[in-house]
Order: sequence, then C-alpha cells, then structure tokens
Amino acid sequence: MEHWIEKIDAAETLEDLEAIRIALFGKKGELSKAFAQMKNVPAEEKPKVAKELNQLKQRLTKIFEEKKERLEEKALEEKLKAESIDVSLYTPRPQSGALHPVMKTMDKIIEHFASLNFSVEAGPLVEDEFHNFEALNLPDYHPARDMQDTFYFKDGKLLRTHTSPVQIRTMMRQKPPIRMICPGSVFRRDFDLTHTPQFNQVEGLMVDEKGKVSFANLKWILEDFLRTMFGDVDVRFRPSFFPFTEPSAEVDISCIFCEGKGCRVCSQTGWLEVLGCGMVDPNVFKAVGYENVSGYAFGLGVERFAMLLHQIPDLRSLFEGDLRLLEQFQ
Ligand code: PHE
Repeated sequence: MEHWIEKIDAAETLEDLEAIRIALFGKKGELSKAFAQMKNVPAEEKPKVAKELNQLKQRLTKIFEEKKERLEEKALEEKLKAESIDVSLYTPRPQSGALHPVMKTMDKIIEHFASLNFSVEAGPLVEDEFHNFEALNLPDYHPARDMQDTFYFKDGKLLRTHTSPVQIRTMMRQKPPIRMICPGSVFRRDFDLTHTPQFNQVEGLMVDEKGKVSFANLKWILEDFLRTMFGDVDVRFRPSFFPFTEPSAEVDISCIFCEGKGCRVCSQTGWLEVLGCGMVDPNVFKAVGYENVSGYAFGLGVERFAMLLHQIPDLRSLFEGDLRLLEQFQ
C-alpha cells in the first residue's frame, strides 16, 4: 500500500486527488477490499492485522487531507491571481453633462417667480402679426416695429421677436386675475458683439381688477427679484417707452463689478440696464377683450443675466458650445 503515498504526493490538481480518493477510500476502493480480506485472516492474527490496517488507513487519510488542503490553497491562489484588479490602471473618466449657464439662469428666474405663485406659460415660436405686434399696440404703420428686426416667412408668419405674444394668448384664453411669466426663445435679425439672432427672454404679467395692480407693486416685485438674482444692489427706474406699456420704464442695477464707481462693463456710468417694464397699455387690454382691469408687465434677456452673474464678457461664447467654458458650470 506504500505506493499510494507516492501517488498522493504526485497529485497536481484537486481532480487528480479526487480520482485517488475514489480508488483508495471509495466503497469499492483498495482499503475496502483490504478490510474485506479480513475474513480470510486466521482468528489469532485478526487483532494484529486489523490494528495495522486501521493504522495504515489513518496514515493515508492524514496524508490525503494534508495534500488536499495544500491543493485547495493553490487553487484559491490561482483564482485570485486570475481575477485580480489593477487599481492603479488609468481609465479616462466618462464626461458628465451639465446644464448650460443660460438654462441655469433661466431656472433660477423661473424658481423665483414660481415661489411667488406666478404660473409659467409657453407659446409657439412661429407667430402671426396679430399676437406678436398688433395686439401689443404695434399696428403695421407703427414706427416702433423697427425696434425689433423680424424674421418673416413667405406666408406672412414670423419668428416671435419677444415672448409677449404668450401674454396675449394667455389673456385671450383666461379671465383675470393673471399672474404669469413666459420664458423662452425669441428671434431677431441682429448679430454683433451684444446681439445674437436667437436668445432667451423671460417676461412677466400681472393683471387684476382696476386699481388692484399698481406701479408700486411692479417696483416691489422687480426690486425683490433683482436682489434675489444679484444680491444687495441699488435699483433705479428710468422713464422709457414701449408700445405695450404706459407708463414704461427701464430698470438699472448698480454695477455689480465696480459697485457703482464706474468701470468698463458699465461704461463708467455705475449702472447696468437689466429690464424693461411698465403698466399694460389700455390698447392691449382692448385687443384681448379685457375691461376694468389694470396690470403690469416686464421683460428681460436671460443671456444678459447669465453674463452678468457669471462675468462672461462675450455674448457669443454662450452659443459656441465650447466645452472648456461649459465644464465650469458642472
Ligand atoms: N417685450 C419687450 C421686448 O422684448 C420687453 C418688455 C416686456 C418691455 C414687457 C416692457 C414690458 O423688448
């Protein structure tokens, strides 16, 4: 039986060992056979032979178990080696997307007015002259139509030049009171350092029974809004003109770059123009069939807000999609 010790020793894998186990320790294995032979041993020798056989079995079992343990360790080691992960290996990170600074600014504006219970309205980008101009007190002979260089289609439709037509549509659909903003894309035939043919606006409108909405309300709403956006700034209202509002004003904030002392961004004036606003012109109410109401409206360019908030010097960089700029807003 000594040759089994050599065999166990020579086993290289757990499979080899399993074959040995069956041939040696199995039901029909060599040891079972040897024990079966006991019946042929003369009675007086039985105890001695049995003792020797049991000792042999114990020895073989011990050698077998030790070998098995070693082979199992070896197998585990090989498995770990094969499955190991090189944590120092360089893998480029996938690029994650981010909201464009203009959209972020838009969201901030929307959130502010939504928190004051303004509804958020949308409308078509392709408009007609009635909603974009006529209903807004801009008849076709009106010289103020030149203020907004319009893209026309052959059928007389146009790309909206401001989001004011959404206000017209909302007023025609709903009864007062109205408290809404309309964010979205607008289009003008203009392209230079400070103008792009497409940009974004947010306009606001508040309408209620006559006497309930005043210029004082408008001032408060806008001052509160501008301080949310720009922090502790001075706000000033300058008389101005828009066909759809009367009286009208343009709104300035004290320059956030020089705190009003005068710098290049504010052209040494100490002020930055950020908004147009006014009390809704009676002709606008007439066009949408409203009577005995008063209201205010305001409008702003989102790109201008984004540029001021993030100190982006050139408007056009907001439209180029340069990842080096956009990555800064993740
Ligand atoms: N609709 C104006 C524009 O696009 C902005 C504005 C809206 C001005 C409401 C005053 C009141 O220029």
